Amino acid sequence: MIWKEKYELGVPNIDEQHQELFRRIDEFMANLRSADPWEEKVDVVNETLKFMNGYVVEHFRDEEEYQQKIGYPGYEMHKKIHADMVNYVLHVTEEYEKRGYDEKLLQQFSGKLLAWLINHVAAEDQRIALYAIEKGVTGNE
Ligand SMILES: [Fe+2]
Repeated sequence: MIWKEKYELGVPNIDEQHQELFRRIDEFMANLRSADPWEEKVDVVNETLKFMNGYVVEHFRDEEEYQQKIGYPGYEMHKKIHADMVNYVLHVTEEYEKRGYDEKLLQQFSGKLLAWLINHVAAEDQRIALYAIEKGVTGNE
């Protein structure tokens, strides 16, 4: 598990969603690494892509709503970062539909997802938590 406590924002539903994202990417990477034939790996790949296209969009929406609720000044910029990620996931999904099980494409995808998530949650999302603390607004009430 690659989740770390320092990633917490102190907003329970967002923190749970982040943990779920880490868990799913972890599972996806373990599946890609396994020696099983691709025919057996393809289910997890399909599931992961479905998850990334659904859950991630919902998660971003929840996180953006929270930012608006606390009046986070970096909201527009943050929203743009989310939108770029959604587009990237869509792009990979289209490539996957064209190319099928392509080890290189999927390896790149999982690596980029993990790097993006760590970087985003540990840096960008933490700014939201800092702002909430500074302003004394947690939005949890
Ligand atoms: Fe975010």
